[in-house]
Amino acid sequence: MKQKPLFIAFSTQKGGVGKSTFTVLAASLLHYQKGLNVAVIDCDYPQCSVYDMRKREIRQLETNLHYQSKAISLFESLGKQTYPIVCSKPEEAISRAEEFLSKEPADYDVVFFDLPGTINNEGVIATFMGMNYVFVPMSPSRLSMESTLSFIIPASELIREHTDIKLKAIHLFWNRIDGRIKKEWLTHYQGVIREFGLSLMQTAIPQSVRYDREQSLEGSDAIFLSTIFPADKNLVKGSNLDLLVDELLEITHLKPRI
Ligand SMILES: Nc1ncnc2c1ncn2[C@@H]1O[C@H](COP(=O)(O)OP(=O)(O)OP(=O)(O)O)[C@@H](O)[C@H]1O
Ligand SMILES: [Mg+2]
Repeated sequence: MKQKPLFIAFSTQKGGVGKSTFTVLAASLLHYQKGLNVAVIDCDYPQCSVYDMRKREIRQLETNLHYQSKAISLFESLGKQTYPIVCSKPEEAISRAEEFLSKEPADYDVVFFDLPGTINNEGVIATFMGMNYVFVPMSPSRLSMESTLSFIIPASELIREHTDIKLKAIHLFWNRIDGRIKKEWLTHYQGVIREFGLSLMQTAIPQSVRYDREQSLEGSDAIFLSTIFPADKNLVKGSNLDLLVDELLEITHLKPRI
C-alpha cells in the first residue's frame, strides 16, 4: 500500500508575507537536500507563480551550461529529478492532489500547498482545514499582525472545537525581522499569541535581500530561491532558513532520507 504524504501549507489571510517564498524554499531544501519526495500544488490560480517560476527556470537552464551540468550532477547523485508542481484552483486543491498522487507510481513524503492570500470562501477554507500542518509567516507590523490574528484566532478555535477536522495545529513564525523592531513590541505580540493558545515557532526569519532578490539561472551566481536547486549553503548562513526547516521537520516528525 502507498504511504500517505503529509499535507503542509505556509498560509495566512495576509498577502505578500512570504507564503510562496517559503513554499519554494522548504520544498527545495526537503527534496534536494534532505532527500524527501516532495510535490507542490500551486493554488494561486490563475497566476500560479510557483508553476511559472519552474517554467522560467527550465527555459533558462536550456541555455546555461553552468546550471545545466549542476542540475545533471544533482539529479544523478539523488537518483531523482525535480519535484512536480501542479497548478490548481484553491478550492479543488485537495482533490487535485489526491488524483495526482493516485496516478503517480512513486511514494511522496510531503505535499506543499501554496494557497492564495484570500481565504474567503468555503472551498478555500476547506482546503486550509484539510492540511495536516499550517505554518503562518507574520511580518512585524501592527496592521499585518491584526490581519493575521483576525483569521488565525477563529481558525484555531474551530480546530480545537471540531476534532474531526484534519488540521490539528497552526504554527506561527516571525518573518522579515530587522534591527529596528522594538523588543517590547515583539514581546507584546508574543504574549497575545500565547494568550490565544497559538504556537509560536522559535525560529524568526530576518529581513534579508537573499529572500527578496529577483533571481534567475542566467549567470553562475549562487542561488537562494529556486525550484530546481536547494538554497546555496553559503547563502543559507544567517538566513535562518535551515533552522526553520529543522523546526518544521521536528514538528511534523518527517525524517530526512539522507
Ligand atoms: N525575510 C524576508 N526578507 C526580505 N524579503 C522577503 C522576506 N520574506 C519574503 N520577502 C519578499 O516579500 C515578497 C512577497 O513574498 P511572497 O510572494 O512569498 O508572499 P506571498 O505571501 O506568497 O504573497 P501573495 O499573498 O501575493 O501570494 C517577495 O518579494 C519576497 O521575496
Ligand atoms: Mg504567493
